[in-house]
Amino acid sequence: MLDKNFSIEEYRKLYVEQKELNRGLEQELAFHRVELEKFRSEAVKAYALTRSQKQDKAMISAQGEKILKDLHVVNKNLRAKVKELDKAKKDIYEAYKGTINRLVLASEYKDNETGNHILRMSNYSVYLAKLCGFDAKALEEIELASPMHDVGKIGIKDSILFKNGKLSDDEFNEMKRHTTIGGAILEKPDSPILECARQIALCHHEKWNGRGYPGGIRGEEIPLHARIVSISDTFDALTSKRPYKTPYPIDVSCDIIKKGRGEDFDPALVDLFLTNIDGFVAIKNKIDEGCAADEAEIKANFAWSERDKVEQK
Ligand SMILES: [Fe+2]
Ligand SMILES: [Fe+2]
Repeated sequence: MLDKNFSIEEYRKLYVEQKELNRGLEQELAFHRVELEKFRSEAVKAYALTRSQKQDKAMISAQGEKILKDLHVVNKNLRAKVKELDKAKKDIYEAYKGTINRLVLASEYKDNETGNHILRMSNYSVYLAKLCGFDAKALEEIELASPMHDVGKIGIKDSILFKNGKLSDDEFNEMKRHTTIGGAILEKPDSPILECARQIALCHHEKWNGRGYPGGIRGEEIPLHARIVSISDTFDALTSKRPYKTPYPIDVSCDIIKKGRGEDFDPALVDLFLTNIDGFVAIKNKIDEGCAADEAEIKANFAWSERDKVEQK
């Protein structure tokens, strides 16, 4: 409010003072306004950032959830497919084993050896292969393949196959053909087991010294599987009853195999066989349980067969 008593001069002075004060206030206000603007713009930025981060997070977690869900479905389908595949593989394997068994059975119809011969010699073969250090897959191969060693006998005339007396040279030559016939039956194998079976069928009568048949191959040219089966097959033939012989005692059979060391048989395999003879005898006793003469009886009845009598001279 104006004071009537103030002179013009006093008003002027008051005006200048007031103006100075206002200028100071205005400067202060301008400074705060700048500060406020700075703060506001930072707040806007921070808000925008928070919002976008929230959005990102939401987006990422939604995408992540979708990927996880898809992955779960894929996993589930994959597990189902693997299960189906496992079952199909198992079915094929069983069917395959069935086919092998039928093939072995068919060859047994044409053979005067018993089914237990097949069982014993395949078990001996697996045991000898294990002593050689074969892995599980190779052991399974020899277990399934060795029973097919004489599958070629399907192609040999009954008059020769079932002849009780000694075979003539021609008949023996005909009999030898069971190896090449077996090899031909198993020709072009489509699995490692059948390839193993083919080698065994073809080469189980080859000899270490090269005097065997059909190829007359020698030493390590003879596939290892066939060298193993050769010992197993011979040991079982020696210790079993055959139309032309009584079963030979274990020690006599071992002596015959020892005699064939480096001649008929792979020397390293013979050493393994003889060192571990107890294991082979245990296999024999387990398979023959209750249906074979005991060792004392075998020893008491032992006599060389006509054929072996000649060979022993
Ligand atoms: Fe044979
Ligand atoms: Fe045999």
